[in-house]
Amino acid sequence: MSQEISDHLTPQTRAYHEIWLDGEKVESSEEEVEPIYGRTYLPRKFKIAVALPPSNDVDIFANDLSFIAIVEDGKVVGYNVAVGGGLGMTHGDEKTFPRAADVIGFCLPEQVVDVAEKVVLVQRDYGDRTNRKHARLKYTIEDRGADWFLSELQKYLGYDLEKVREFDFEDNGDRFGWMTDDRGRHHYTMFVEGGRVLDTESYPMRTGLREIARVHEGDFRLTANQNLVIADLSDEKRAEVEQLMEEYGIARSHEQSAMRLSSIACVALPTCALALAEAERKLPEVIGSLEGKLEDVGLRHDAITIRMTGCPNGCGRPFLAEIAFVGRGPGKYNLYLGGAHNGMRLNKLYRQDVKEAEIRSILDPILEDYAKSRNEGEKFGDFVIRAGYVAATEWGGDFHEKIKEKAFS
Ligand code: HEM
Ligand code: SF4
Repeated sequence: MSQEISDHLTPQTRAYHEIWLDGEKVESSEEEVEPIYGRTYLPRKFKIAVALPPSNDVDIFANDLSFIAIVEDGKVVGYNVAVGGGLGMTHGDEKTFPRAADVIGFCLPEQVVDVAEKVVLVQRDYGDRTNRKHARLKYTIEDRGADWFLSELQKYLGYDLEKVREFDFEDNGDRFGWMTDDRGRHHYTMFVEGGRVLDTESYPMRTGLREIARVHEGDFRLTANQNLVIADLSDEKRAEVEQLMEEYGIARSHEQSAMRLSSIACVALPTCALALAEAERKLPEVIGSLEGKLEDVGLRHDAITIRMTGCPNGCGRPFLAEIAFVGRGPGKYNLYLGGAHNGMRLNKLYRQDVKEAEIRSILDPILEDYAKSRNEGEKFGDFVIRAGYVAATEWGGDFHEKIKEKAFS
């Protein structure tokens, strides 16, 4: 389904290649017409994802448009349609904010491509082209309302979407280790911290992957959580690859605290010119400093999503994490708490301008409180709201609500 959507929505003209990929210049005499995007394309980037519950491993609610597969009796009977997610914001500008997508309806499998196209058309025609910071679909929907969007979309479609079907996401992480699909093919998801494929003295991951690549006949798939799936292996190949995994330590890649396995960091410094602080090189250390407490209070195997980015553009999807650090300046972060473990609720600012050295003294007591006082099965992101550390963010516009008193006590 993702491929069909992508094939249909990929621009038909060469303009993009001409501008961004050193493509051939389009002759001015041969005016190219783009059938969907027209002369002026979209106001801003536009992101699409497809997920199969109970796994929200592509973070559906961060995307402009997404489809949530509904399975009945082992078959996909259709998709819930979600619109208006997006995470980027600017520090100090409350008119910008992250927003979790709204689930607005349900469509049949054969309607998906049409629905995708029409959602794009509504944004093409109503998106704000005058202000780049207000140009994503999330602002079009926040300003006019999800009801307006649905009714406009239905006009473009010429038919109505069905009512949203029930669905349940458990988490937005990856499933590590081996799994076998219904065709009997094997897939191995390995943990790649921060998405960095490199060799260290104790763990020659890159060399190991290169050796696997020499014999592997299937795919390597990058996951949206920065991990790697060694995909599509036969029984025989699996045995061969398993041996290499043992040899190079890849078989133990996910023997980590559940918090580390639930972490994401953007590239930030030194690669990204927009970074205000470290992320990819810093988060492993920060998690290391929290692992002592996790161990002490028995939380080593409790998955708590933790994410760090070097700025509020949100590439590491921080605003959907249970704990998030967003760079403010060198060695300084805003700390957000209270995202939902399944990626359906944004978090909220808990402390501003936290220095690296303060992180443990702020988070250790909260982790301890969680271990002691959580309800049966209660996730960390839900607990910090119930316990009053932060208020819940219900919708995009209330993301910037004033920090609760308790945060400063
Ligand atoms: C260093 C190069 C990159 C730059 C300069 C960059 C820049 C940006 C900017 C400006 C935004 C904010 C968009 C908005 O609010 O409208 C953004 C958002 C985002 N980017 Fe990046 N990005 C980079 C690399 C990446 C990579 C490699 C990924 C993942 C494969 C990524 C994933 C995301 C995500 C998930 C968001 C948040 C969701 C959203 O609002 O779209 N970015 N990025
Ligand atoms: S979130 Fe990270 S990668 Fe994205 S623009 Fe900011 S510093 Fe760069």
